[in-house]
Amino acid sequence: MLEVAVGTGLAFAQILAANPHGRNDGIDLTQEMLLRARRRAERSGVHTYRLELGDAHKLDYPAHTFDVLLNNYLFDLLPEEDFPAVLGEFMRVLRPGGRLVIANMTRAAHWYERGWELLYRLNPAWLGGCRGVSLRPYLESAGFQDVTHELIRQLTFPTEILSAVKPHELRHEITEG
Ligand SMILES: C[S@@+](CC[C@H](N)C(=O)[O-])C[C@H]1O[C@@H](n2cnc3c(N)ncnc32)[C@H](O)[C@@H]1O
Repeated sequence: MLEVAVGTGLAFAQILAANPHGRNDGIDLTQEMLLRARRRAERSGVHTYRLELGDAHKLDYPAHTFDVLLNNYLFDLLPEEDFPAVLGEFMRVLRPGGRLVIANMTRAAHWYERGWELLYRLNPAWLGGCRGVSLRPYLESAGFQDVTHELIRQLTFPTEILSAVKPHELRHEITEG
């Protein structure tokens, strides 16, 4: 498994618990976050992991490496014009049939969730630079299949959870032929 943008490693610790005998990689752009993620991973007692510096825009892995790629609360920080390139990297490093799971802050569906948008407009720093995005069309344009979408709210904070599959090359060949 690969987690991109591990942050303090909360989800990465769960990956280690779920996949103690598999290969588990995590990357983040900053050493500060990696230090915290490593401390948490060390406490897990699982040693089948690597936590390294890395940029979602250019993943340092060969194509078709991972069965599962997890990414939480990154796209809501990135400029929208970067989405296709980052999703292209996710597609590249997943093996055919591999699964992508993404969670990010999404746009408000109800008036009582719009306070978050207002806060962002007043001062993006109050929300750590995050604003709501809707990623589903980007996943479909990138070529992911079986895209599912779920909306959850935590104290009105809206999060979308997307799951999708990298198509098998064979299926590509059949549809293209
Ligand atoms: C809002 S935090 C989310 C952390 C973690 N995924 C979570 O849900 O708790 C965003 C993280 O993305 C990392 N990040 C920002 N830009 C990145 C990039 N281009 N490549 C990899 N990580 C990045 C930041 O360093 C930070 O740890």
